[in-house]
Amino acid sequence: MYKEFLPVTENTPSLTLAEGNTPLILSEYLSHLANATVYLKYEGANPTGSFKDRGMVLAVAKAKELGARVVVCASTGNTSASAAAYAARAGMRAVVLIPDGYVALGKLAQAMVYGADIIAIRGNFDDALQRVRDIAEPAGMTIVNSINPYRLDGQQSAAFEICDALGSAPDQLYIPVGNAGNISAYWKGFRAYLKAGRISSVPQMCGFQAAGAAALVHGQPVSHPETFATAIRIGKPASGTLALEAARESHGGIWAVTDDDIREAYRTIAREGIFAEPGSAASVAGFLQRVRSGAVDKGSTVVCVLTGNGLKDPDTAMSIQPSPARVVDNSQQAVLDAIGGSL
Ligand code: F0G
Repeated sequence: MYKEFLPVTENTPSLTLAEGNTPLILSEYLSHLANATVYLKYEGANPTGSFKDRGMVLAVAKAKELGARVVVCASTGNTSASAAAYAARAGMRAVVLIPDGYVALGKLAQAMVYGADIIAIRGNFDDALQRVRDIAEPAGMTIVNSINPYRLDGQQSAAFEICDALGSAPDQLYIPVGNAGNISAYWKGFRAYLKAGRISSVPQMCGFQAAGAAALVHGQPVSHPETFATAIRIGKPASGTLALEAARESHGGIWAVTDDDIREAYRTIAREGIFAEPGSAASVAGFLQRVRSGAVDKGSTVVCVLTGNGLKDPDTAMSIQPSPARVVDNSQQAVLDAIGGSL
């Protein structure tokens, strides 16, 4: 679809799971709150349930084009699910390194079912990425983390879609920051669209890290990153420099949101019928923070990126509501009693 903006040639194998074209959903609640027009870019609608598919399809196709048989990545869960799916689709093998005990259940299930070799290391994501860098070349495997430039190239498509849907760029883009690839890819995409004359302005890029893993906010790596939003539990963002450039050049910034802020945002969007995983909700948490501090202009157009599907992390969903179902006898009266008899 956006081939002219991508390094695809006649030698690139055709590979797709129909990624992209995700919904841009108007949030009436957030729009009302900020006196602005606020959209949620729902990346959970991608084939493996996260934005990673946009870049992974290209990274795996290019790896295949160049003769690789095995792809490898470190992951907090979504990259591994996506790498496993596209490798399966391309008839290749995927090896994924994950931080033991810190990957949401649904993501682990995906990598397993798609047939990846899963190695859980005693360490965090940053350690896993270092091990991937150590082993990939000697073992003849292609790295498909976002340090692979094709990942960022492919992920530009989300920025293109937003501009095409709105007819222009939004004024501000809110986005979670983990390993810092996605904010860099969006910025690359907006600049490419500007250069091609498809838009006449670019948005302020507003990135948000979890407070316990806010290396870019503090200007130094975090050796023991902590947050319940495991997708962004990263202390040494590989694309940190690009992300900081995006923030600076666009007159935006990178800020921290607490786990409580993220939980509040997670519930807020769910009340509008939108289920996104905790890491995703960091964008909305950041938006709410900036509405409170008066940094969102009235009448502006805003997009918050929801990077992954809420179904990926059922444990967090269930832990937020301690007693989800009330078990009653199988009778009309028991059911009416349970709901207070008032319908
Ligand atoms: N949101 C979700 C749901 C993610 O899975 C990630 C990253 C991010 C946001 C942050 O994006 O890294 O480009 O800044 N997940 C990676 C993974 C690290 O392994 O799945 P980023």
